[in-house]
Amino acid sequence: MATILAIESSCDETSASVCVDGKILSNFIANQTVHQKYGGVVPELASRAHMQNIVPVIDAALKEAFPEALPQNSLQNVDAIAFTQAPGLIGSLLVGAQFAKSLALSLNKPLVSVHHMQAHVLANLIEENRPAFPFLCLTVSGGHTQIVLASGPLDLKVIGETIDDAAGEAFDKSAKLLGLPYPGGPLIDKHAKNGNPLRFKFAEPQIPELNFSFSGLKTSVLYFLQKQEPGFIEANLDDLCASIQHTIINILLKKIKKAAQQTGVKNVCIAGGVSANSGLRNSLKEMGEKQGWKTYIPKFEYCTDNAAMIAITAYYKFMEKEFSSLEVGPTARSEW
Ligand code: KG4
Ligand code: ZN
Repeated sequence: MATILAIESSCDETSASVCVDGKILSNFIANQTVHQKYGGVVPELASRAHMQNIVPVIDAALKEAFPEALPQNSLQNVDAIAFTQAPGLIGSLLVGAQFAKSLALSLNKPLVSVHHMQAHVLANLIEENRPAFPFLCLTVSGGHTQIVLASGPLDLKVIGETIDDAAGEAFDKSAKLLGLPYPGGPLIDKHAKNGNPLRFKFAEPQIPELNFSFSGLKTSVLYFLQKQEPGFIEANLDDLCASIQHTIINILLKKIKKAAQQTGVKNVCIAGGVSANSGLRNSLKEMGEKQGWKTYIPKFEYCTDNAAMIAITAYYKFMEKEFSSLEVGPTARSEW
């Protein structure tokens, strides 16, 4: 038996999860709404909110996993404590890391450190309908855009990534130009449902290999909007959102298709916050049917930042006895 308590605090979600032998028993997420009025995540406010949220979130995760036990007793069921070690906002990561280390020390249990991007990929292994290895994963979040070749749970290789902005940033920055509040990705998704995706054309960069670039798209949207009359955005919001979303999806899907052709791998997954996008989900399914792929999309709560993905990754590391010393600290940037 391996029972893992996992903590995620890399950005603006505080989350805790309990996993027993690879099965998720609970996954609590506290969203921080304090950032909305600033148009982006304010690191200092994020750290403070993590400090406020971390105890109630862990408490809730333990209660749901072990409803009969008192919190102090349910901790005795835990075999290891896992936490997000990198990458992320350093102040946010520190809160989760310190808490996890203190728990591991006081309970005398092993500590498992987890890479956030690796965890986004392995979120695809949480549910019963999981991909067989090898699989390709398009990880698209607010901070990252990567294509990963997964040959085993702990054998992951980044074979393509963005050279500038992430796909989520492309959504959020375009949304800001349209006057939509942060985070704009879900709002573009909502408006795009009623719009014409072919009405406006925006720049699609020609980037070599399996890499991406999104900074040109934002500039292309900006120049286009600057040429329009006042009131244009309000009158054409749905078509603008649909056209921007269509461009981002095209850029992403062209590269995942190229990756599948190059590697011969036919199991294709998506992960990360942007994989919540309904246009991307539908287009991936359609492309999968045409190309003869098996496609996998995690449940919404496992797409955006969550501790269940940290717990499942920690489970595989626990099985391989990949533990960390109490000296390990968080790092804001980290290759893997
Ligand atoms: O993975 P995530 O929750 O946090 C990071 O690690 O970055 O991803 C957040 C990103 C934001 O850029 C947000 O706008 C985007 O995911 N996002 C979406 C949608 N839901 C979240 N983008 C487009 N359509 C959505 N439905
Ligand atoms: Zn993330």
